[in-house]
Amino acid sequence: MNSDSSITRREFVASTSKAVVGVVLLNQFPESAIVPPPANKKRLAMVGTGHRGTGMWGKDLLAAHGDWVQFVGLCDSNPGRLESAKKLMGVDCPTFTDFEEMIARTKPETVIVTTVDGTHHAFIAKALEMGCDVITEKPMTTDETKLKVILDAQRRSTAKIIVAHNYRYTPTRAKIKELLMQERIGRITSVDFHWYLDVYHGADYFRRWHRLREHSGSLLCHKSSHHFDLLNWWIDSDPEVVHAFGHLEFYGANHKFRHTHCRPCPFKNACQFYFDMTKDERLVELYAANEHYDGYLRDGCVWKEDIDIFDKMAVQIRYANNVQVSYSLTTYSPYEGYRIAFNGTRGRLDFWMHEKQPWPIDQFDEIQITDNFGKAEFLRLSRIEGDHFGGDSLMKEKIFGDPAKPDPLKQQATVRDGAMSVLIGVAARKSIDSGGPVSIAQLTDLVPQAIKPE
Ligand SMILES: NC(=O)c1ccc[n+]([C@@H]2O[C@H](COP(=O)([O-])OP(=O)(O)OC[C@H]3O[C@@H](n4cnc5c(N)ncnc54)[C@H](O)[C@@H]3O)[C@@H](O)[C@H]2O)c1
Repeated sequence: MNSDSSITRREFVASTSKAVVGVVLLNQFPESAIVPPPANKKRLAMVGTGHRGTGMWGKDLLAAHGDWVQFVGLCDSNPGRLESAKKLMGVDCPTFTDFEEMIARTKPETVIVTTVDGTHHAFIAKALEMGCDVITEKPMTTDETKLKVILDAQRRSTAKIIVAHNYRYTPTRAKIKELLMQERIGRITSVDFHWYLDVYHGADYFRRWHRLREHSGSLLCHKSSHHFDLLNWWIDSDPEVVHAFGHLEFYGANHKFRHTHCRPCPFKNACQFYFDMTKDERLVELYAANEHYDGYLRDGCVWKEDIDIFDKMAVQIRYANNVQVSYSLTTYSPYEGYRIAFNGTRGRLDFWMHEKQPWPIDQFDEIQITDNFGKAEFLRLSRIEGDHFGGDSLMKEKIFGDPAKPDPLKQQATVRDGAMSVLIGVAARKSIDSGGPVSIAQLTDLVPQAIKPE
């Protein structure tokens, strides 16, 4: 008898090759050339000119859609970083440390919010109040009080909020959505979802502002809002009850030595987590060159005792359509990626994404669909490296290149979608702190629906 545990995954794939349907090539890349640029470029302003702002929403956006959009103003609390941003983005627009003044003077049509997570709500609400559409980075916010500020402002305004949930646009995740919408495995009953951040990327959250709940709402908001949004979108229902466990037992005070940050650290040679940011010119330009303005240290010590977020988290979610989810997030894994499985009434859909690992990674993504009492089918999709596996470019193409393009998979995230993804994180944090389950309906006036409203 062939024992499953004695064969490798590759051997398993080879031995079931009759069921492999071949490489599925998705050609979803931007087709901006077929939509002519407008006579007047869209007027954009940005608040938060750090890594994400200057890169994906700055230089990269202008490179792909510079015929469609122009920056009329940039705002940041760090005046030095504003100058660095202009250089990195290749723009020469006015800069401001006062957000309201920027909006009043530059009159943008759309404001892009890319500040630290815990500050998004104030800029979103003010921009709406001043008549601007908003594109906000995820997580839309970090607690239910700030969320209420956004929801109230949205109800008073006719302007629109788009939440930049880029993960929905990655072609493999879109394929999973398509298969679930087609009920390929029947009705979904439960989901197993486990995400692994490695000792490089995972550790980096404990070096930066993310290490404090005040700024990130913990990784249950900052990082898991991506994952919770995917779940809400794939399951197509609203979360109803959340029960979670979490702990900080690896980073922070759980170590014998520490310092303020890596550059002057006396334990450089002894610490496996030593990070030399001076090797990266962009990090030096954005952060080291400007730290004398605000004291922000990009290479903070992962063993700092002020860290107050969890480094391991396990979350149970019950949806309004009765789907049950088991989710976990680990932040000190030797490799990076995730494993997800949807259990359905007719079968199961599995996907194992190897994002980063010390051995070679397959050049394709593979979705396994197994029918009850039947065979396994393997769908191989070409993988797009970088750009959040293709998600960033496809999302920007939808927003700027061809906004009228039909959205059959409902990939563009609304303010309600942004809220629901954050509410799972907020509920999980409260559940860990209180020890009991938390109902989503208790947190705001949003009422969970069995079928996610449009
Ligand atoms: N969707 C994604 O895949 C993705 C990836 C990375 C970051 N993000 C999000 O993008 C946002 C920015 O992250 P980042 O990595 O660029 O961080 P960052 O630290 O590089 O940049 C944040 C910027 O906001 C500025 N800032 C902070 N508080 C401010 C305030 N009150 N007023 C004005 N400016 C303020 C800081 O000075 C800094 O320049 C975050 O919300 C983050 O969650 C999303």
